[in-house]
Parts: sequence; structure tokens; C-alpha cells
Amino acid sequence: ALETEAKRMIAEFDFTKDDVNKAVREYLAEMEEGLEKQGTQLSQIPTYVTAVPNGTEKGTFLAVDLGGTNFRVCSVTLHGNHTFSLTQSKVAVPRALMETQVASELFGYLAQQIELFLKTHHEDHFAAHKGKPNSVPFFDLGFTFSFPVEQVGINKGRLVRWTKGFAIEEAIGKDVCGLLQKEIDALGLPVKVAALVNDTVGTLMARSYTSSGNETTLLGAIFGTGTNGAYVEKLENIKKMKMIDEQEGGSNYDRSTGMMIVNSEWGSFDNALKVLPDTPYDRDLDRESNNPGIQMFEKRVSGMFLGEILRRALLALHGHPDPKIAIFKDGTSADNDMTTTTTIDPNSNLFKQWGIDTSFLSIVEEDQSDHLRITKQILEKDLMVDSASTEDAVAVKMLVHAVGKRAARLAAVALGAVVIQSKRLETDGFADIGVDGSLIEYYPGFEEYIREAFREIDGIGEEGDKKIRIGLAKDGSGLGAALIALIAGGSEQ
Ligand code: BG6
Ligand code: GLC
Repeated sequence: ALETEAKRMIAEFDFTKDDVNKAVREYLAEMEEGLEKQGTQLSQIPTYVTAVPNGTEKGTFLAVDLGGTNFRVCSVTLHGNHTFSLTQSKVAVPRALMETQVASELFGYLAQQIELFLKTHHEDHFAAHKGKPNSVPFFDLGFTFSFPVEQVGINKGRLVRWTKGFAIEEAIGKDVCGLLQKEIDALGLPVKVAALVNDTVGTLMARSYTSSGNETTLLGAIFGTGTNGAYVEKLENIKKMKMIDEQEGGSNYDRSTGMMIVNSEWGSFDNALKVLPDTPYDRDLDRESNNPGIQMFEKRVSGMFLGEILRRALLALHGHPDPKIAIFKDGTSADNDMTTTTTIDPNSNLFKQWGIDTSFLSIVEEDQSDHLRITKQILEKDLMVDSASTEDAVAVKMLVHAVGKRAARLAAVALGAVVIQSKRLETDGFADIGVDGSLIEYYPGFEEYIREAFREIDGIGEEGDKKIRIGLAKDGSGLGAALIALIAGGSEQ
């Protein structure tokens, strides 16, 4: 009974071969549109990064990273032979600062973390500067700021909108580098914000730096709290560049390479829901989010949202009017010849918005234990479900799998479309993708489900899939930000 209902529900999450192909076509169309004009759903933001590294770059740089699970401060030393060393510290940004009214509270907090880092890891430099300001060189800092920013120069850009649960009205439209520099200066730190970097751009740069061959990476993608991708585009294809140059009074960037990295902001692909799937759980999640109607692709693909989709599906099953179907309800069930009574605490996270973390999905997807013992344990720990029956655990696992697999197939749409548009499979015989984020790193089988979908895409297929390389650029955006700070600032420590 429960199984039949769970099967009906997981069918709602099917994203068929036809769906995938239709979505790829829509993605290709939105890509073009985004290159032509400003203000489109798929923003296709020019980044002013006009070269990718080749691994010979050298120097020490600071980088900070806001927008993933943690705020990170790091110093990166590039050795110039495709290798680097990195020292870092991370903290989870306090929730209150994500929704504060006063932007300087957040940026002030970031500056304090930078100060703490310098005191701990660059003590001499810090002390020398304190004793005699300007006696030591300033550190160039790459600011990885993983939100949509309309970039107007390498270290300047206006925040377009917040995503992933951040909501600080006051900062919208402001130059985020300026906001950070102001707080750094208020603390008197020897640091210059030299580059503004989206995490996807950082990931792309990092992957290029560490790849040993001569080939350049096509695409950097994040599948973590949020999802997004940045790719290498021919400058002549970015039709709106001319208009932007004029608006900004003839921006200064190197045109000789004939290329520029574009931050696609694919989280907002198909906000109009022409091709994206839309279950009742997706709809409810969106309606009750702090940004309804936007980031519709991200809300079906990335870590921050998958737990919430699952929670809403489980809640529907829990509230099912037929007691034989309802999940986590007193009903008894024979389990291993033992009879158990299942109960759920009224304070369970099942009843709280955002109550289920993506790590829950990863653990359940991975569970191969007898009678799904591990799933039952995590149901008890995370959702306060006591003595879950095997039948309940099986239903949970089926739903987890459906939500996760749909996310991966959607991910393949964006990745696949960028690969097809680049024509690299034909011109270079391969396409290289650097990825990062908790979902691609920890969700079992995520890459394999992506590849399964690649093989179903017209224009990729079995042969094309073999030519697509996907490699983890772990914590890549720290390294990437340092590389861009180098290109931008040029002053080595
Ligand atoms: C990190 C990158 O490794 O991955 C961040 O350095 C990025 O820039 C993050 O935002 C994404 O992963 P998650 O899962 O922490 O959001
Ligand atoms: C969100 C942000 C985007 C970022 C992505 C991954 O989609 O808008 O800028 O790259 O999350 O962190």
C-alpha cells in the first residue's frame, strides 16, 4: 500500500529522455538570448576574465569565499608548476547576518575574519604593517562572491539579487568589492580587494591551473548549496559587450585573447517553467521561499533545496488519509519477524521548513545495509522517527533516489548544452569540466546519473559522453580567486 503510493509519487519526478532534449534546446536558446541582451533570465554575465591560466603562474595571494556552506579565508601560494599550497580557515556565516538589515554588519564580519586570519597565519606581515603602515606591500585579495553580480570591471560589480537564503536588501545594486574594502580599511588591514570572482569562475580557473596538459578547461560548475556554471566564450559571440562597454564608458580589458569567461547564472534558467518539471512539492517550496519565481532551476537541482523537496514529499505521505499508506504513523508492521510501533515526535524536523539537510539524502542514497538499518538510524537521529519500519525506510529511499536523480538529469541539461554550444567535442575531440560543491562530491552516483543523461542527449550520445571529462576542483575557488587576483593586481608578495 505505502509502496504503491510511493511509486506513484516517484513517477512525478521522472524526467525522460524527451524532457532532457527539450530542455537542452531551451537552454541553448536562452544562452543565445543572454549573450545578446542584458536583463535576461539566464544572465550570461561577462566577467572581464579574458584568459585562463596555464599553470606557470606564481605568487602569494589572499582569497575569501562567501556563498557556500562556509565563509572561508585563505592564502594561496602558487608554485608555478601546476601546484600550489593553501592555508585556510572556515566558519559558517551566522544566520542572523544573512538576513540583516544593515549590509555593513555582514561585510564588517568578513573583514574581522580576514584580520583574524592575518594575525594567525601572517603574523609578521600583520605586525609590521601595524607598527608602520604602508611599510610592507599590501596583499592582493580575490573576493569569491557567489551571487549574481553585474560585473563592470575586474574588481567592481553591482549585486543583482541574493540567492541561497541570503536577503540583505540594502546591498542590492551596490558594489560588493567597495563594501568589503571599506570594512577592511576601517580595520586598517594591508589588503586590497583586487578581483571579484564568482565561485564557478574560480573553479574553472583552478581546474585549468592544475590540469597538466595544454588543453584549456571549458566549464567550471558548482553543485553545492546552489548551482551555477561559468564557461569560456568567444568574445565576438558576446554581442551585448559592445553595449556594456558604451554604458561603462569603454571598459578596460584585454581583447587580444578573443575570449572571455561568462558567468551564466544558470540557477535562473527557465524561471518561466517552460521545460522544467514542476511537482506540488516544487511549487510549495517556491511559494514559501524568500525569492518566489526566481532561481527555479537551482530550486530543483542544488543542495539547499533537495532536502526541502524531499521533506515536502514525505510530509504529504505522512498526512495521507489512509492509515495503511501514511508513513511514520503508529501502525505496526512486521519487521524481521518482530513487530514494531513507529512514532514521530511532534518536534521533528519533518515539520520544519528547511528541516532536512542534503547530507540526509546522500546517506540514504548510499545505504545498502540489511533492512535499511542505516536509513532507520538517520530517520531516528534527524527526524525523530522512532522504530521506523522497513517499509517506511524503503519508501524514503525511493523518494530520495527520485529527487536526487532528477537533479542530476537536470544538471546534465545545463552542462550538456554548454558542451554542445562550444563545439569542442568536434574541434578538440574532448571537453573538460571542473566541478565543486557538496552535492557532486558526496551524493553517490550524481556524476553517473549526469552521464546517463548525456548519453541520451542528441548531439552528445554514447560517443560524446566518453569525450567529456569531469574532474573535481575541490575548494577550487580559493585557488581560482588567487589566480584572478594575480592577473588583476600583479603585485606579488
Ligand atoms: C567550495 C567553493 O569548495 O564549494 C565555494 O570554494 C563554493 O566557492 C562551494 O561555493 C560550493 O559548495 P557548498 O556545498 O559548500 O555550497
Ligand atoms: C547561486 C549563485 C551563483 C553561484 C551558485 C553556486 O546560484 O547565484 O552566483 O555561483 O549559487 O554557489
